[in-house]
Amino acid sequence: MAKTKSQFVCQSCGNVAPRWSGRCEACGEWNTLVEERGESGVGAAPGASRMKTGHAVELVALAGDTQEAPRLASGIAELDRVTGGGFVPGSALLVGGDPGIGKSTLLTQAAAALAKGGHPVVYVSGEEAVAQVRLRARRLSAVEENIGLAAETSVENILATLKAGQPPALLIIDSIQTLWTDTVESAPGSVTQVRASAQALIRYAKRHGTILVLVGHVTKDGQIAGPRVVEHMVDAVLYFEGEGGHHFRILRTVKNRFGPTDEIGVFEMSDGGLKEVENPSELFLGERNANAPGAAVFAGMEGTRPVLVEIQALVAPSSLATPRRAVVGWDSSRLAMVLAVLEAHCGVRLGQHDVYLNVAGGYRIMEPAADLAVSAALISSLAGVALPVQSVYFGEISLSGATRPVSHASARLKEAEKLGFGRAILPSGSTARKNGRDGAKAKAAAPSGLELVEISELADLAGRILAKAKPAQQG
Ligand code: TYD
Ligand code: MG
Repeated sequence: MAKTKSQFVCQSCGNVAPRWSGRCEACGEWNTLVEERGESGVGAAPGASRMKTGHAVELVALAGDTQEAPRLASGIAELDRVTGGGFVPGSALLVGGDPGIGKSTLLTQAAAALAKGGHPVVYVSGEEAVAQVRLRARRLSAVEENIGLAAETSVENILATLKAGQPPALLIIDSIQTLWTDTVESAPGSVTQVRASAQALIRYAKRHGTILVLVGHVTKDGQIAGPRVVEHMVDAVLYFEGEGGHHFRILRTVKNRFGPTDEIGVFEMSDGGLKEVENPSELFLGERNANAPGAAVFAGMEGTRPVLVEIQALVAPSSLATPRRAVVGWDSSRLAMVLAVLEAHCGVRLGQHDVYLNVAGGYRIMEPAADLAVSAALISSLAGVALPVQSVYFGEISLSGATRPVSHASARLKEAEKLGFGRAILPSGSTARKNGRDGAKAKAAAPSGLELVEISELADLAGRILAKAKPAQQG
């Protein structure tokens, strides 16, 4: 028999080291290495002897026939959009999010929707008592016959319970951090426990064609605590996010083996649970104060869906040696780039100013197409002049100060027209991109009710806004 060896697993990143040290070599965290017996943990097959030789598996042709993954739609359109058309039986999903954001609420509603369609569901809560979960379900009018409920944290007990009956169509584990298994020795909540528990449940799901949904907590710095390692084991990772004080929540795909990763689902938290938001733009522009300087409407895209949001900038003279730059909802290094381009190519000097940038409503922009709208908001705030109410902005800016067309121009324009905007400021070449049929099609698709202002240099935009500022200041 091989001698049992110890190994040391970092609780922060999951790196395995042969020797203990105060600091993890992989992630640099201090005091995160925990000893584990070598035979348990990662890669150790349960109960399998180390000396056993393997057996041959049959190799199949990669070119063989396979059916399209079947899907089980929940009927909650915003959720189905994010999963790529519904849950895939036998797949595992991780739903991450801050405490209190509404993960349990969302999954209770999803469970009820599937159960209503005649699919058996099992909901295992490791955090709340049965009474609490029942109370929530009643509040959500999600009390369905087909949902089995248990408050349990032992993986062995959960698996034994599942094996005693028919495999459910959907198994919800709320949350993966609370589970523990006898097969490994470390404490509940540790990386090793979380990984071993997830592994056991995923194995069950794959074998029985059950959809497994794991809930994971997120730490302050936005990582799924502990189960970062779980992200690699599951088929899809969804993040549920939202800003404190705002009612709406965004479900975002981070990884999806069976669908797109750039779709979002938008929900609004109400007294009766999460409500779907079909037209997010109306929601994001709802509280708009159009006459204030420093606000620009950005025509953005999320996957296949256009989303209009307001970008707010505040530029104020700074008393600090290093002026402040604070960004909410956008990439701060992208802001630094836009500031540098404004300074270098447009003569807009912001070096002595504090700059605050906010995307209204707690929304987060992930695409570079917001450059133009951000620039417009910054210049507008510096000049103290409000931008035209009826305008939307989109486009990327290069370091040379030139504007660059972005994808889906016609979808963005259509949404702007639909919401009553009259003018769009966009990079030149956006609508007649590539001469030929492609361009012609895009041009034809541009809505007729919209005045298009195509600019090729950021300086053009700066000039237009500042030209309005001067007469206003004189008069
Ligand atoms: P919850 O789903 O328990 O969050 P998580 O599982 O992510 O920790 O949601 C908790 C919050 O949602 C709580 O602050 C109350 C609020 N809520 C509503 O506003 N309406 C509702 O119908 C429900 C069920 C919860
Ligand atoms: Mg919860």
